[in-house]
Amino acid sequence: MAEDLPTAHPQTEATQASMDAIYNWNYESEIDELRTLYANALDRQWIALRDLPWEQGVDKEAFQRTFTLAGFPIQETNFWKELDPDTRWEVSRRTAAFMLSNFLHGEQGALMVASQLVNAVPHMDGKFYASTQTMDEARHVEVFAKFIREIDHIYPIMPSLKKILDATLSNEDWLHKAVGMNIVIEGLALFTFRDMRNTTSEPLLKQLLTYVSRDEARHTGFGVKYLSHVMGEIDDGKKAELEDFAFEATRLLIDSRAGKTMRESALEIWRGAGLDPKEAFEKIVAERMTIQQTAGGQGFSGPVRGFVIPTLRKIGLFSERIEGHFVEMFEANLGKERAAQLDMQIQFPESLEDWIEATG
Ligand SMILES: [Fe+2]
Ligand SMILES: [Fe+2]
Repeated sequence: MAEDLPTAHPQTEATQASMDAIYNWNYESEIDELRTLYANALDRQWIALRDLPWEQGVDKEAFQRTFTLAGFPIQETNFWKELDPDTRWEVSRRTAAFMLSNFLHGEQGALMVASQLVNAVPHMDGKFYASTQTMDEARHVEVFAKFIREIDHIYPIMPSLKKILDATLSNEDWLHKAVGMNIVIEGLALFTFRDMRNTTSEPLLKQLLTYVSRDEARHTGFGVKYLSHVMGEIDDGKKAELEDFAFEATRLLIDSRAGKTMRESALEIWRGAGLDPKEAFEKIVAERMTIQQTAGGQGFSGPVRGFVIPTLRKIGLFSERIEGHFVEMFEANLGKERAAQLDMQIQFPESLEDWIEATG
């Protein structure tokens, strides 16, 4: 609906995208793992309007009590507990709507990239699989848009996210598309969705995120399985290009030097709820160390060290050269001392499906 968009935001916008559409005349299965993933996707479809308890509405009390700020367990801080419930609800609903709006826009990007992959990938199993991902992403766009309207309105896309989506859509190489979307963007999203699902006790959001996370685990699984399958045929020059593309996409999303990060923009939303963002942030930072110890030291870079880097390592796109770039970024953002304490050896989950279902 028109009123969901700010007046300065155009209803539609074009980005140039061209690529080769590849026929494959071999209809036999060539990559069994992808054929299995396709079959799983067919088997695990769900219907957003039918399968979620929309009629219950959003439980405001549970929502504001168990709100998380992009991986940071703000709900455990005294700062949060001491706010009055009305302010907590205002802050949490606006912040969540802002963050979920960007996930929503990311889902639209994923919808378009997945449909491009149907054309661009050379194997029939990859085309089959990407067609199911396209369906999944349409459902995610539908479900996030609907949920956001339950709590607030849809906020415009962050410029850094738009830049990554443009770069992924416009790149003519399917390997770049799969790395940008299935590894980096969906990796960050999956980690964050799962974290949010485990933190919130709001029933509608919890169930929504459980369904979405299960789909996203397949999307990441596709990137990992397909890219691992073809990596042996890719020369070192191309690997370095893909590593750079992955790093650049990650950097745009989390590096505070690349422009405003999502967390920083989210804090500005707080002004509208009657809080001074700067003062609030200082209070949170003061409590950060204690909170991080209880949160297992994940810190502010949780999704990157906790998931994107392990995924890159798993598919063979984490050379010493690119590790150096990541370390340098962490040092610039967190300071050398804290960066040196970061655990860079977190491993990719043995079973993605089990990891998604785990609530710890
Ligand atoms: Fe999605
Ligand atoms: Fe996805």
